[in-house]
Amino acid sequence: MLNDQKYNISKILKLAASFLEKHGVQDPRLDSELLLGKILNLSRVEIYTDFFHPLTPFEIDKYRKFIDARAKGKPVAYILGEKPFRNLNLKVNQDVLIPRPETELVVEKAIGLAGSLGKKLIKLVDLGTGSGAIALSIAQEVPGAFVFALDVSEKAIRVAKGNAEIHGLQDKIEFVCGDLFEGLSDNLKNDIDVIVSNPPYIPSEKISKLQREIRDFEPLLALDGGDDGLDEGRRIVAKSPYFLREGGYLVLEIGEGQAGPITRLLNDSGSFDEIEVSKDYANIERVVVAKKKG
Ligand SMILES: C[S@@+](CC[C@H](N)C(=O)[O-])C[C@H]1O[C@@H](n2cnc3c(N)ncnc32)[C@H](O)[C@@H]1O
Repeated sequence: MLNDQKYNISKILKLAASFLEKHGVQDPRLDSELLLGKILNLSRVEIYTDFFHPLTPFEIDKYRKFIDARAKGKPVAYILGEKPFRNLNLKVNQDVLIPRPETELVVEKAIGLAGSLGKKLIKLVDLGTGSGAIALSIAQEVPGAFVFALDVSEKAIRVAKGNAEIHGLQDKIEFVCGDLFEGLSDNLKNDIDVIVSNPPYIPSEKISKLQREIRDFEPLLALDGGDDGLDEGRRIVAKSPYFLREGGYLVLEIGEGQAGPITRLLNDSGSFDEIEVSKDYANIERVVVAKKKG
């Protein structure tokens, strides 16, 4: 693609979008615009107001590389190295899941619950923090919040820490690398107000059937939830009561069809009540909230 010397925005976008379409990209025009906008440092609106602006050979070369990567299935966020999430622009790479819009609902729930506590210091845990999307949003939006952000992946913790520094939130978050709650001090027993998690929840056998953008580029560790997708969810439900204070909340993101099994696990544990399931924008049951009895 892109061999002749003279391209303006209009012409190059047309070529790029048709190239991406041929390579099975779902939103070829949108992706072409986002990638070009990054190179030219222009918003999508600005691109349209400067349609006949000529590109330099350097810009064309860089754009060719971006478009080639996208045609091979690499998600736009990994090519750009960033993804907006609520009020944050988060750095992302292939060590972390690209934060999803539905996870904003999880954050909204956690923020609402944390705010309703009326406490000066609110202690939260984000299990499987990845890019830090949940932990950083809460730290930014909840006055008095202190978040323990945990992940088993050292590389993910590095990304999340970098994001906390960029956004000046490092004093409100402690990052801990380990398997689920491992690494969380025993002093925090019965002391946490809200535990939030978007754990890996895709059943193992479904991974190979995911779209290539996810299957071939996002970390398996962030996706694979074992045979029924509930390996991590099950462990979180079992262990959360140990760290939650009485009346504290567990907020969990779940996959399609998992509301029933997770609700049963919460009920069977005997530790929770006020279990509530909320749907996402696509009308799929996506967030479960439960209150620790007490
Ligand atoms: C679905 S991603 C969520 C990332 C981020 N919280 C978000 O919502 O965008 C799940 C995260 O859990 C982490 N993870 C997987 N298994 C884990 C475990 N046993 N203990 C801690 N973290 C784990 C993965 O490394 C990944 O970062």
